[in-house]
Amino acid sequence: MLILWYSFKLKLEMDAIKKVKSHIEDLQILAGEINMNIAWGITGAGHLLQESYDGMRALAQKHQITTFVSGAGEEVLRMYGLLDKLNEISGGEYLREIIFESEAGASAPKAGRFLLKKYDALIVSPATSNTVAKIVHGIADSLITNAVTQANKSGTPVYVVPVDLSGEVTSPLPYHIDRELCKKCDECPPKDKCPEHAISDQIDLLKCTGCGVCIDLCPHDAIKGGNVMLKVRDIDAHNVKTLRSMNSITVLDHPSKILTVL
Ligand SMILES: Cc1cc2nc3c(=O)[nH]c(=O)nc-3n(C[C@H](O)[C@H](O)[C@H](O)COP(=O)(O)O)c2cc1C
Ligand code: SF4
Repeated sequence: MLILWYSFKLKLEMDAIKKVKSHIEDLQILAGEINMNIAWGITGAGHLLQESYDGMRALAQKHQITTFVSGAGEEVLRMYGLLDKLNEISGGEYLREIIFESEAGASAPKAGRFLLKKYDALIVSPATSNTVAKIVHGIADSLITNAVTQANKSGTPVYVVPVDLSGEVTSPLPYHIDRELCKKCDECPPKDKCPEHAISDQIDLLKCTGCGVCIDLCPHDAIKGGNVMLKVRDIDAHNVKTLRSMNSITVLDHPSKILTVL
């Protein structure tokens, strides 16, 4: 009986110590004295991708970042030459890893970390119109939508930067061949020198790493990057409006806003 009483008392004291410790940590976070653990979700958007990278890189100076990458995100990051640079933000060890959807499993068990309160915030930037549509309809069938769902269920703050807001947007293109300029030379220096062997009569964007080596090698300047203007669909603008109305999510209109909220 005495032992039971002592273990009950011990448990009460341990709970009280835990609570005090947690309050102290909250105060330290508020005072900017200790780092937060931030989860970054990247989806497959070329638009605002570089800006998202720059914003998160700045955030990584102060906080620990785990990067969650959708399947499309992995491909698009590679095309824009950013895949190999992710390790400048997420260094590799626990809570600073890069988690790829292609390796994360269909049930995305790593998203369970949100329920364990491992993260102080989740930032999805850039968020494709596909991912935004899924979030507003409560779908959780990908790494990033699972992360949002579990973050919401655990009360973790979620910030989303949608790419398709309204009107028209100008997006950067991956490298491609300008057919009007290409002379179909027998000897093609870009094709011969591409380190990824990504060039045939077209550029295989699933192989291209966006290194830019080919640009200067073409004697006819036929390899281009550049921008494209596209119209935001009504359905996507409507989904962003719905996203803004969700209590559990804060919509940011540009990745530069990330630094103002965290
Ligand atoms: C080069 C490239 C750029 C893309 N950029 C965008 C974009 O800016 N916005 C968008 O909504 N989808 C974009 N997509 C299409 C998405 O990658 C595609 O819808 C994908 O299914 C999204 O999956 P996720 O939301 O799970 O990442 C792009 C695709 C490619 C190949
Ligand atoms: S050389 Fe051109 S096609 Fe080849 S990987 Fe680099 S950017 Fe892509």
